[in-house]
Amino acid sequence: MTDAGAPGFWITLEGGDGSGKTTQAALLEQWLIDRGRTVVRTREPGGTEVGVLVRDIVLHHRGEVSPRAEALLYAADRAQHIATLVEPALARGDVIVQDRYLDSSVAYQGAGRVLDADEVRQLSLWATGGALPDVTVLLDLDPHAARARLDSADKPFDRLEAEHTDFHTRVRTAFLELAAAEPQRFLVVDAAAPVDEIAEAIRERVASLLP
Ligand code: TYD
Repeated sequence: MTDAGAPGFWITLEGGDGSGKTTQAALLEQWLIDRGRTVVRTREPGGTEVGVLVRDIVLHHRGEVSPRAEALLYAADRAQHIATLVEPALARGDVIVQDRYLDSSVAYQGAGRVLDADEVRQLSLWATGGALPDVTVLLDLDPHAARARLDSADKPFDRLEAEHTDFHTRVRTAFLELAAAEPQRFLVVDAAAPVDEIAEAIRERVASLLP
């Protein structure tokens, strides 16, 4: 519990690579701090010590990682993250601002056409005991626009960023389908809009639900 005794609140940000999640997470974190909340900013994969090791395998391993192994690695990172970081923070009454969660697994691991999206979701739900965020913000962006942003950032691509545009188009479609299936949990924003406009839309949704 915080001094104010407010219950915890859990926000996740989702979207393709280059959709601006990190920028929005930083703005949201600052706004929450200004409102007197204790914020835990975290991400998947890689929010814990174990997660950092898993992140290195899934993003940078040079040889082949089989689709099922990849799905299990993300799920293992997630299990550790929820059990050791997210749940304790929620129990303390903190607000969690988290870059990616199980919707990323459904969209990315399901988009390779090898794994069944529902199986991937069930795997994550098993890994985390069924935990779902209070709000999930989907930053929706055309993959061509996203690619232009990534190119201008001049960072080496990781394994998933290096996938072709049709893969990223399937990821985008999968995210939009997930959002349509759970309109209560999701807020979909146009990631091509000005940064301040997006931040305001996110704040509005969070403010309406924040305990
Ligand atoms: P991210 O941390 O957003 O990348 P960056 O640090 O470059 O902004 O995400 C890393 C990659 O992992 C991203 O391409 C999506 C992918 N990913 C999955 O495929 N499945 C998952 O379950 C998660 C959480 C991420």
